[in-house]
Amino acid sequence: MNELPLLTSINGKVTPSEDAMLPLPDDGLLRGDGAFEVMRVYGGRPFAMAEHLDRMERSAAAIELAFDRPALEREVRELLSRLDRPDCLLRLVCTRSGRRLVMTEPLIEHPPTVSLATVTYSPTNILNRVKSLSYAANMQATRMAKAAGTDEALLVRPDGIVLEAPTSTLFWVSPAGNLRTTEVEAGVLDSITRAKIIDRTEVETGEFPLADVLGASEAFLASTTREVQAVSSVDGQEIPTGPSPRTIESAHAFAAALEDDLD
Ligand SMILES: Cc1ncc(COP(=O)(O)O)c(C=O)c1O
Repeated sequence: MNELPLLTSINGKVTPSEDAMLPLPDDGLLRGDGAFEVMRVYGGRPFAMAEHLDRMERSAAAIELAFDRPALEREVRELLSRLDRPDCLLRLVCTRSGRRLVMTEPLIEHPPTVSLATVTYSPTNILNRVKSLSYAANMQATRMAKAAGTDEALLVRPDGIVLEAPTSTLFWVSPAGNLRTTEVEAGVLDSITRAKIIDRTEVETGEFPLADVLGASEAFLASTTREVQAVSSVDGQEIPTGPSPRTIESAHAFAAALEDDLD
């Protein structure tokens, strides 16, 4: 396949990403004050674009950020029209100073399984469910998990309730055999991949303790960039990775959503 052109649109003006310039001051950069989304594009067609724009609109409203949805949507389509049916990511950013960014990014290659280390994390009430530009804590959690010799972090509340990974949702099959994931109200992102799986399979949502995950017979991470990725261990406690019927069923559920929701 041809190499993906790395392009950025800033308020509709498209340049190679390495030449893209943002005037300062902009609190989007200086204070992480803004909102973002990452969408996946399959063969030039964005997946679940309406849901991503809906969530961005909710994030923007939650932090009183101006959000010109029609302009952003136009700019996404204009950027995609310059590309040759790419498989890529599109990052959308709205900054406090009113700049809209749309950037092409290459897909991230994820291995088939992932090991997790727990990191204690308190969701901030104000930014709950908001995909704000203030993601430094999430990024640091991943570095802490890597320093502990694993691939990714599993965020756990100080009261022992399992949250999510820094950029993905955790699903697991409980010792009682139920496919579970944490409810949004517990302080996790309303993930679009999560919603697609919940819509098409039987999933129990709630607040569950870490012990439930440590005793799981299957677990997986779900996100725009990972789709469905099996979890092989949590804090060194192995989780079987195959054959994993509920993981396979969820991957099929996501594939069905893909058929339905490509633009
Ligand atoms: C904290 C967090 N949880 C979950 C997800 C997965 O969300 P989605 O399925 O919409 O990509 C993300 C996405 O980046 C995230 O940042």
